[in-house]
Amino acid sequence: MTESKIEEAKRLAGIKAVADHFDPSFSYVGIGSGTTIIYVVEALKDVLSRTPSHTSSNPTTKPAIQFIPTGYQSRQVIIKAGLTPTLFDNLPEHAVLDVAFDGADEVDEDLNCIKGGGACLFQEKLVAERARKFVCVADYRKAKPRLLTTWPTIPIEVAPIAARIVLSALTALGSKAPLIRSSPLEKSGPLKTDQDFFIIDAPFPTLLTPTDVEAGKGKGDGSDGTWEVVNLSKAIKAITGVLEVGLFCGHDGIEAEQLGKRTAKGGQ
Ligand code: 5RP
Repeated sequence: MTESKIEEAKRLAGIKAVADHFDPSFSYVGIGSGTTIIYVVEALKDVLSRTPSHTSSNPTTKPAIQFIPTGYQSRQVIIKAGLTPTLFDNLPEHAVLDVAFDGADEVDEDLNCIKGGGACLFQEKLVAERARKFVCVADYRKAKPRLLTTWPTIPIEVAPIAARIVLSALTALGSKAPLIRSSPLEKSGPLKTDQDFFIIDAPFPTLLTPTDVEAGKGKGDGSDGTWEVVNLSKAIKAITGVLEVGLFCGHDGIEAEQLGKRTAKGGQ
């Protein structure tokens, strides 16, 4: 598959996600991180440019939609598109986002996701959990029956002071050789997140679905070396020093957009 075909798949996924899940009457919209989300923002900008109430020639009483970024890159994308960014901690106390769009590194059949390839998983989860609907925009390459099929690791954001003990705890859970992610900008030294934390990339064997556990393919609780996605997410989150884990599962109303295939499920 050529690079241009992949970009076209991402663009089409972005257009479809916006066409199906965005309404110009919304007040708050979450904007995730990565390269696919750039196409989502382009599609949002396109829809808004064709919405009379959003053009300067026809001002309206409706306040501009506030776009909530999931990190520095995401904020830049919002600003570049001429949209209005609002930081998560500036949201009114009880504000609920109408929708949050975000990308993913891998998505399973139950629409659980691995996220954090771009090291933004903590803010991505904050924003996703504040949204009425989480729309995961992923092209055909990301859809797999189970997580950790081709994407090799689970990204985990950790406090730098605790990184070494978290590595040990992950090894005890069955991760083979978890690593602190290096910064691409420096010759040496760990990558720092927007929170000034580190990312650990932890390989685990391919994760089981609840159906696999029911079918007796493994206990899924780590005791026999197998993990079911929700169990592993909880076990990693329980390690002191972990800020957030890049497994997104069990979100109410989570929906995924895949090119040529649309699936949706309610909460678990
Ligand atoms: C960043 C993320 C991204 O959403 C994920 O890595 C997908 O990125 P891309 O759209 O570039 O493939 O989770 O932390």
